[in-house]
Amino acid sequence: MRRKLAAGNWKMNGTRPALAELSKLQTPENIDVLICPPATLVAQAAETQTVAIGGQDCHAAQSGAHTGDISADMLADAGASYVITGHSERRTDHGESDSTIAAKSTAAWDSGLVAVICIGETLAERESGKTLEVIATQLAGSVPDGATGENTVIAYEPVWAIGTGLVPELVQIAEVHDFIRSELTARFGADIAGAIRLLYGGSVKPSNASEIFATSNVDGALVGGASLKADDFNGIIEALA
Ligand code: G3H
Repeated sequence: MRRKLAAGNWKMNGTRPALAELSKLQTPENIDVLICPPATLVAQAAETQTVAIGGQDCHAAQSGAHTGDISADMLADAGASYVITGHSERRTDHGESDSTIAAKSTAAWDSGLVAVICIGETLAERESGKTLEVIATQLAGSVPDGATGENTVIAYEPVWAIGTGLVPELVQIAEVHDFIRSELTARFGADIAGAIRLLYGGSVKPSNASEIFATSNVDGALVGGASLKADDFNGIIEALA
């Protein structure tokens, strides 16, 4: 039985006063709750809060001459237990390739972090009927050999649904999540594939969370905007619990 996960990604939002939101979050015993704040807040968040804390990115190396970057070891040292890899904003803004994302995910595992590996198609790819092809390619390239239910979460985030208020039809979410599960099964076997949690991300809100969580192979959500305020994120946590 996969444990449900409500994950919040604050992206480049939040200074120290925002940490007050964390103490208002509900933490039901039957689900995991994760917040990925900006790197500047990871240590303080991890010290003071009961929810799991994650980074939003890590370098593929653990140390070295990489100005401005943060390693998985550093995140773990700061108290993180998860890290997002391959978010579409990293793929777009920083040109991250599938192989880079796989290397970052391996670095995360080496530091004892759970990698939340993100995949998803653009609107142009969906409209040209390439969604499943894109998903298969990103899965194959971004998820390293050695993935398990303990070290890996996959987040399906259609790029066109992120921050837009647009959400795929539930049948479209189910189609992709079922496809991801079958691809993982073909590669890793039913036991491992059946233990890897699959999150949906893209304009999840308290008002649409319940129906999304009732969709096939959806084990939780990766939430951006609606994770910034505890009142909103609590609505999503309640829908999942
Ligand atoms: O990582 C989170 C996703 O990009 C979703 O963001 O909930 O603001 O659409 P959003």
